[in-house]
Amino acid sequence: MKTAKLNNGVTIPLLGLGTFRAQEKEAYNAVLHALKNGYRHIDTAAVYGNEEEVGQAIKDSGIPREELFITTKLANPDQGYLSTKKALRKSLERLGLDYVDLYLIHWPKSYELTADSYQAMEELYLDGYTRSIGVSNFNFHHLEHLFETAEIIPQVNQVESHIYLQNKKLQEFCMKNGIYLEAYAPLASHEISKLLENEKMQAIAKAHGKSVAQVALRYQLERDIIVIPKSVTPKRIDENLDVFDFELTDEEFETISNLDRGRKFFPEPDNFA
Ligand SMILES: NC(=O)c1ccc[n+]([C@@H]2O[C@H](COP(=O)([O-])OP(=O)(O)OC[C@H]3O[C@@H](n4cnc5c(N)ncnc54)[C@H](OP(=O)(O)O)[C@@H]3O)[C@@H](O)[C@H]2O)c1
Repeated sequence: MKTAKLNNGVTIPLLGLGTFRAQEKEAYNAVLHALKNGYRHIDTAAVYGNEEEVGQAIKDSGIPREELFITTKLANPDQGYLSTKKALRKSLERLGLDYVDLYLIHWPKSYELTADSYQAMEELYLDGYTRSIGVSNFNFHHLEHLFETAEIIPQVNQVESHIYLQNKKLQEFCMKNGIYLEAYAPLASHEISKLLENEKMQAIAKAHGKSVAQVALRYQLERDIIVIPKSVTPKRIDENLDVFDFELTDEEFETISNLDRGRKFFPEPDNFA
């Protein structure tokens, strides 16, 4: 598995399994299958309601804890200094873990509340409850405000990113500040048919004997973006990991780059209730 180094030296596998909308047995089976077949990075969140199943699958996989990279996220109602500290402890209990590898603020709230939550996360990081910290759904202005109070630069910003929403300027800004961009919905999530039916993507996939989903993931990886495709289907879980044995030509890369429409399929962070 290819990895990247975060700004604090922690190593993160460039591809992980997403678990949004994967419930109970489905989440358990997907995570167990993924871990038994080469995945080492799992993305969950308190709000997904599946931390217990994810934790059980981690345990049952028998893979040593230090070989895994586990991310969870702070739910919106838990934002605030004390509540953030309690929230990570509860997530750890549900996951059956002593620490996570990455803890993210799931969505930005008011600058003040977010700053308080982030301060608690910095302390949780220093106390060893998480090996790295970061944010999610943060735009330029959320990051700029966070920089005013943060003592530790976030390691990751997890945002919606796929062929129709490539976030090139945000990635440039994040990289300049040492923050890795991580793509959620890398397959366009509930709008995946719009991605799979794209004829330019189909032609590129055919040229490599790969699927459109694999080309979409490969493109983000070649942009140095971490991807966390979700699937509860064993065949697709395997397919999504099988993206490290081919390279896009410059022309293909350019073709996909030109598919960017700035098209969001998830809410704007500033309008998220
Ligand atoms: N931070 C945030 O606010 C936020 C928001 C959304 C998501 N996320 C994280 O990012 C992860 C990925 O995003 P996402 O789940 O929304 O969307 P996604 O990974 O872009 O797409 C998931 C959809 O694609 C299908 N799929 C997966 N691989 C496929 C393949 N090879 N061929 C055909 N279809 C395939 C899945 O179906 P099956 O499962 O039925 O196979 C599912 O319907 C989430 O699971 C979550 O961990 C974070």
